[in-house]
Amino acid sequence: MIELIGSDPFLHDVTELPDLDNFFSPKGPLLEAIKLAAELFGAKETWFLVGGTSCGVQAAILATCSPGETIILMWNAHVSATTGIVFAGAVPKYIVPEYNCDWDIEVGVIPSQVHIKLCHSNGIPLIVDEAHGAHFKFHPKMSKTALDQGANIVIQSTHKVLSSLSQSSMLHISNNDYQILIDRERLHKFIHILQTTSPSWLLLASLDAARHQLSKISNTGLFDDAVISFSHDDEMDPLRITIGGWGLGLSGFQANKKLDDDFGIVPELVSTKSITLAFSEGTTREHVQILVSGLKQLSNMFYSDEKELENSISRNVKFGEVVEMGLSPREEFLARVLLPQHIGVPVLVPGEVIGEGAVGYLQEIKNKGWFLIGAADPLPTILVCRKYY
Ligand SMILES: Cc1ncc(COP(=O)(O)O)c(C=O)c1O
Repeated sequence: MIELIGSDPFLHDVTELPDLDNFFSPKGPLLEAIKLAAELFGAKETWFLVGGTSCGVQAAILATCSPGETIILMWNAHVSATTGIVFAGAVPKYIVPEYNCDWDIEVGVIPSQVHIKLCHSNGIPLIVDEAHGAHFKFHPKMSKTALDQGANIVIQSTHKVLSSLSQSSMLHISNNDYQILIDRERLHKFIHILQTTSPSWLLLASLDAARHQLSKISNTGLFDDAVISFSHDDEMDPLRITIGGWGLGLSGFQANKKLDDDFGIVPELVSTKSITLAFSEGTTREHVQILVSGLKQLSNMFYSDEKELENSISRNVKFGEVVEMGLSPREEFLARVLLPQHIGVPVLVPGEVIGEGAVGYLQEIKNKGWFLIGAADPLPTILVCRKYY
């Protein structure tokens, strides 16, 4: 490792030392750093995380749901929400978002499905997984942040779009009147038990450095170039571009392979019909030129009038549908059922009744030679064991 990256990183790879503060009970430099972060992001309080947004989502669910209590969440929520539900023993009610079958992409929930005012007037806290939205605060043309819209707990992967090291994220609690819906001590306890007792100070320092960088440049337009010709639309993120391959007869998986093999371009998300690319502070003009060349090459190689990817496959759940559950996620998890997913997004959620739609979808994935993770084998076979308790 020293040959590869030199010895400096090792000099800074320290964990809790008396001068460096205590991760779970900060009183010195770490306390100062999280206070500055809370101020910058507009939070009442911020925690630095070394287990990614994943551990923050899990802690937020554990802090707000007791065993047997209901949690309402998007059907395609990240797998960390599912594991949070398993830990908490909560009972999910899934909201199926709108789905665009041309792109094989979940479009998102609409206000009539999740309404922040309705949650608050019923004493229900709102958790937002803003893993991909840590940058929203830093350009007036970007979406309003979840905190600014009144969410109670917001978790952001600072390492995804901003400049901290992988694994480092932030969890914020909001400043609004509805903060009484969050038991701060309970949240703190779960943030504590879900993380290591040997946090890397390199990761924590990188969160502070990312905050520092943004506080210095937020007024000088770090994201100006990215949003320069971007017409304001609350639902769009100028740092994510989704490209469909069907006009060339290519699936998202095939386009991904070609771009990766020939140009070293690795998308953030791959679906059966499209790829989604992530841009960040580190993206340069040269990177964009490589992408444009890659896309031109794909077009030259595969374009023909007749070629269109045959009809889209339809999702196994429909917009607005109630997802039928056979077991609670915790029961299913303990019964050792392996569930297939596309890069963190479930094809089936734990406990869901496996109906014809889901089987057809999985068979189609198999027939097309695409891949899923989490299935018992690449076919994919779903392993279902009897409940043993
Ligand atoms: C929507 C969403 N939530 C949560 C996570 C988990 O974030 P992290 O990798 O910081 O643990 C991801 C990761 O890709 C994600 O896409």
